Amino acid sequence: MTAADAAAGLARLQRRDTRLDSYVDRYAARTHGMTASAIRALFAVANRPEVVSLAGGMPNISDLPLDVVGSVLNELVVSDGRRAMQYGSGQGEPVLREAICEVMKLEGITAHPDDVTVTVGSQQGLDLVTRLFCDPGDVVLCEAPSYVGALGVFRAYQAEVVHVAMDEHGLLPGALAEALAALKTAGKKAKFLYTIPNFQNPAGISQPLERRTEILRVAEEGDLLVVEDNPYGLLGFDGDPVPAMRSLDAERVVYLGSFSKTFAPGFRVGWVLAPHAVREKLVLAQESATLCPPTFSQFAVASYLHNHDWRGQIKLFREMYRERRDAMLAGLADHMPAGTSWTVPGGGFFVWVTLPPGLDSHAMLPRAVTARVAYVPGTGFYADGLGSRHMRLSYCFPTPERIIEGTRRLGEVMQYETDVLATFGTMVESGSPTDRLYESPGTNQR
Ligand SMILES: Cc1ncc(COP(=O)(O)O)c(C=O)c1O
Repeated sequence: MTAADAAAGLARLQRRDTRLDSYVDRYAARTHGMTASAIRALFAVANRPEVVSLAGGMPNISDLPLDVVGSVLNELVVSDGRRAMQYGSGQGEPVLREAICEVMKLEGITAHPDDVTVTVGSQQGLDLVTRLFCDPGDVVLCEAPSYVGALGVFRAYQAEVVHVAMDEHGLLPGALAEALAALKTAGKKAKFLYTIPNFQNPAGISQPLERRTEILRVAEEGDLLVVEDNPYGLLGFDGDPVPAMRSLDAERVVYLGSFSKTFAPGFRVGWVLAPHAVREKLVLAQESATLCPPTFSQFAVASYLHNHDWRGQIKLFREMYRERRDAMLAGLADHMPAGTSWTVPGGGFFVWVTLPPGLDSHAMLPRAVTARVAYVPGTGFYADGLGSRHMRLSYCFPTPERIIEGTRRLGEVMQYETDVLATFGTMVESGSPTDRLYESPGTNQR
């Protein structure tokens, strides 16, 4: 062995020693986009019982009648277990696809079970749709802010996210038209618009019917496909659901649905309703991903829908979430420092808070966790790193009393930060980039 060989060998060994992952050079380019967020470690602490977590978005299934679910599952295994535990159709079980069409009628959708593909939660629907449409570098238009899980999928497929501003009624049609025009000038074309029209994650706001119609008009003019993600649509607190975008334009809209928030997330059952040609490709993509979506879960959900008053159960969920929403709004009104604003959700799980100028939600999080309250900083919901003046608060899980206590603790931390800033100057340039680039929904304020 020459001295040069020895030196190279040593260098290799040292490199290996200093790396946590010895396969780092071998990953596909797309894998490098898959990074754990820096705040994950903090959330391990935030899950301790003494911390009020307004961070997680887990559905609250404590009101689910487990005896009913238990007897449905028991009956399924005893009477139809061999079929329910066998491989099934790549598109999903017909009995469930028929039931899904009944569920979608509540939001004005008329659909044929042939056009439904069952997925492993709507998250897999998002993944399959992106896989079908996006090559690396392709553009996806997306609300600002948007669902962190969708941004992760777009990143994994190396798509470029172009954000479109929202106001308190959701995505702005004018901003969408401008984005389309700018892309055209740059010689690009968006593959689709991703939007969450009901009780948006993270902003908690909804598009009224006129806004949906207007967005679809702009989409038609720009020959744009719309991906409508709707896990929260049946969890509205006031009146009937607003008609889904898919009910207004069956050919332009790919619709994603889920049983995670209206039944239980653990079954991992969602679906995609797509125009016929897209549906054919989706089934092929589903077969390559999973062979078939989980048969047992599908039969379980179908039996639950068949044997239980699921509409009544959703009503109970709505009432439980409304009580928590009210606690959150009361707590914010009582405890937020001057200069804070927040959205007023008509359903779903989330409130979007805009901090007083100068405060940075990312920098403040460790101090909040020390004060035993947690939230998600706004930066996770933007593909371009903006959002530091915002935070997402979830009211779905803690009790109303804990929610109010959480807002009290948060208010104290924010007041302290505001006082420090007043004494020592600003952490963030006043008029943060978020304010300059995107309108941000915020209706109530102090
Ligand atoms: C907007 C949105 N889309 C999709 C999902 C994924 O839900 P699931 O895969 O459980 O259906 C979530 C989960 O929180 C969500 O908030």
